[in-house]
Amino acid sequence: MTTVREVFDTMDYGPAPEGDKPAREWLAKFDGRFGHFINGGWTKPAGLFDVSDPSTGRRLAQASQGTKKDVDAAVKAARKALPGWQALGGHGRARYLYALARAVQRHSRLLAVVETMDNGKSIRETRDIDIPLVARHFYHHAGWAQLMEAEFAGHHGAGVVGQIIPWNFPLLMMAWKVAPALAAGCTIVIKPAEFTPLTALVFAELAESVGLPAGVLNVVTGDGDTGAAIVAHDGIDKIAFTGSTEVGRIIRKATAGSGKKISLELGGKSPFIVFDDADLDSVVEGVVDAIWFNQGQVCCAGSRLLVAEGIAERLYTKLRARMETLRLGNPLDKAVDMGAIVAPVQLERIRTLVAAGSAEGAQMWQPSWACPTEGCFYPPTLFTNVQPSSSIAQVEIFGPVLVAMTFRTPAEAVALANNTQYGLAASVWSESINLALDIAPKIKAGVVWINSTNLFDAAAGFGGYRESGFGREGGREGMYEYLKRDRTESTTDDLAAGRAAKASSRVPSAKSVAAGGASRPIKRAAELDDPDRGGSPLIDRTAKLFIGGKQSRPDSGYSTRIASVDGRALGEVGEGNRKDLRNAVEAAHAASAGWAKATGHNRAQILYYIAENLAARSREMSSRISAMTGTDGEAEVEAAVRRLFTYGAWADKYDGLVHQVPLRGVALAMNEPLGVMAVIAPEEQPLLGLISLIAPAICVGNTVVAIPSERAPLAATDFYQVLETSDLPAGVINIVTGPKDSLAKTLAEHDDLDGIWYFGSADGVTAVELASAGNMKRTWCESDPRDWAGVDDGEGREFLREATQVKNIWIPYGE
Ligand code: NAI
Repeated sequence: MTTVREVFDTMDYGPAPEGDKPAREWLAKFDGRFGHFINGGWTKPAGLFDVSDPSTGRRLAQASQGTKKDVDAAVKAARKALPGWQALGGHGRARYLYALARAVQRHSRLLAVVETMDNGKSIRETRDIDIPLVARHFYHHAGWAQLMEAEFAGHHGAGVVGQIIPWNFPLLMMAWKVAPALAAGCTIVIKPAEFTPLTALVFAELAESVGLPAGVLNVVTGDGDTGAAIVAHDGIDKIAFTGSTEVGRIIRKATAGSGKKISLELGGKSPFIVFDDADLDSVVEGVVDAIWFNQGQVCCAGSRLLVAEGIAERLYTKLRARMETLRLGNPLDKAVDMGAIVAPVQLERIRTLVAAGSAEGAQMWQPSWACPTEGCFYPPTLFTNVQPSSSIAQVEIFGPVLVAMTFRTPAEAVALANNTQYGLAASVWSESINLALDIAPKIKAGVVWINSTNLFDAAAGFGGYRESGFGREGGREGMYEYLKRDRTESTTDDLAAGRAAKASSRVPSAKSVAAGGASRPIKRAAELDDPDRGGSPLIDRTAKLFIGGKQSRPDSGYSTRIASVDGRALGEVGEGNRKDLRNAVEAAHAASAGWAKATGHNRAQILYYIAENLAARSREMSSRISAMTGTDGEAEVEAAVRRLFTYGAWADKYDGLVHQVPLRGVALAMNEPLGVMAVIAPEEQPLLGLISLIAPAICVGNTVVAIPSERAPLAATDFYQVLETSDLPAGVINIVTGPKDSLAKTLAEHDDLDGIWYFGSADGVTAVELASAGNMKRTWCESDPRDWAGVDDGEGREFLREATQVKNIWIPYGE
């Protein structure tokens, strides 16, 4: 036996394995064969697949492959349970969430051990990070349930939600999805990943034990086919997904036009930026947590080390020394830093990507100690001399592989950080808080950690920009993902009926007019009837496109005649095409940085000034609108002026939050603009509809490419003349007239747009949502009519929320 003296001399760790007996007993209770948990009970195990321990490769249990029938049964149970769950009210639901939090704590060790056995991650992490955060999530959301009626007045739960989760944090991801959904009053069909279904099943048993009403939580196991069946099911109102960008894209396409709400938390290639004044010893520990935590199988892993050139070699030397001391092995061993990779297929993926990195000329380094050869293990790996365009610098490896690059200036660091399709997270290391806080807003990512990394909490939202997905989990911002705004059915019906009647009786379709009014002879231009003209010939007025602050002719060289409700020609508008849109997007990009940086006060001034100038031309605009639509143009202009005032008011008031995270420091939730947006205005109320979309978008710092109503676009072309006199910087608003749906589709396909709003036909909604999957831009699409004149429907926080994305910046302080 080793003596104390020998241990002292060698400082070797002995094995300190956590017992797995209770976990094995729990598995044995089910005979190691699991059915689904549907409607408060277990189904008979069927279509079994193996669930293995990745550290040994041995089978732990078998779970059932969920069929369409299983999914259907789960959705039916969830639908049936929905009214009761909603009727329970916030306090009733809070009691259940509280009970779930307590149950997780009471069974925390069982959950930690099962998680470690199933996933391969170290017990140190499941015991000290995953499971405590799970409990924290349920406590926090018990609170949101309690406060729901007061804090989310005017909202209700989204309905039955389908949730699909990955294998890297199986129970934690389940908690991130289940807790807010339950709090909001939704019922759930959730599918854990096929590699790691076990803790979801333990949790189902806990839910049963606390008496959660049958059908409120249904767990269906299975692979991607089961997930696809959930996504496709008509009885589901919302899909929440965490996983690869590839599957996220499939889900975006599959739900296009279905009316399902979706939130996607996808991959990342997050930068870890080290400036030359950073505390390098802290940086080294930060890197360990950034990329070797959970074997690097973390969506927000700091996998790209960007380091100031002058200190790079010093940091690499320190890192290599630290890597030599990392301990890798049996994940149940309490003294192990790194456990196993989740499955052979993932191990193979890592090996292939590492081989590609070496082949591309990057320099690979691994510690000298030997990695276990049995089970799925991969050593911590550092690549230096990496080209920013190489595959290892761009592709999400999802393994313990760090790629390092250097920069010389802060601007170069930002450019390198943003040189990725993703935008999930970033770490910034500098002893200068000024520098760190200057960099944080410039990085396109949903979470930024200053002098820290991989900090998570239920009170702070988590989620990505760009192809890392959209939607947030956690915090107040995360609750909105499971809520819908109350809209009374009767109002919607009245509106629909009203609009339909108006559309058919009064407004001539653009097509019939464009066809030269073949069905009806076009009468003289309205201007010819102007009594003040005194018999002189009409001075022609050509409506143009408005791009980069200038009026420009359409590239197509075609124009469409626009008629009044009684068939008189009112004017012609240009038929915008792909090239005009490209120019407009380019102009909006050129204006973007400056406009986003402008102060709220400054943006407010401009919105008020637009309102002032619009009011000054009220008479002319009103008669134009009345002529085009046959409605009360004066009332519409008046409402548009008010709307501009509303967003002038909001421009310096749409504040962020300081979240209460358990940290000596603060987490700032900043509302940032999406960037460059397209807005496609509704057909009805051509001026008010357009302004109701443009004004909130620019109010929070976006620049826009706007497509006005196709039938009545002259309101928009008159409006750009107002813009020209209102000190609006060139390119902030660009207006392209023409065939609405085809322009909308081109914009939805555009990879350089960050968001698109579409208000039009159901077919148009489908086309826009489908095409947006290219770069996963944020969408807000509706085919239901809105009461644009009303304050409930036509303005407010909903619009501002859709125009922004929340960035959480974590700032620890103290020595
Ligand atoms: P995945 O995206 O295929 O799996 C995630 C979940 O989606 C699983 O529950 C899976 O069964 C389900 N799924 C698969 N296809 C589906 C479909 N068509 N419809 C609905 N659900 C579907 O991820 P996978 O294959 O396990 O890992 C591949 C790569 O994805 C990893 O190497 C990593 O780069 C990335 N990944 C990223 C995660 C993140 O948190 N951002 C999590 C897991 C994987």
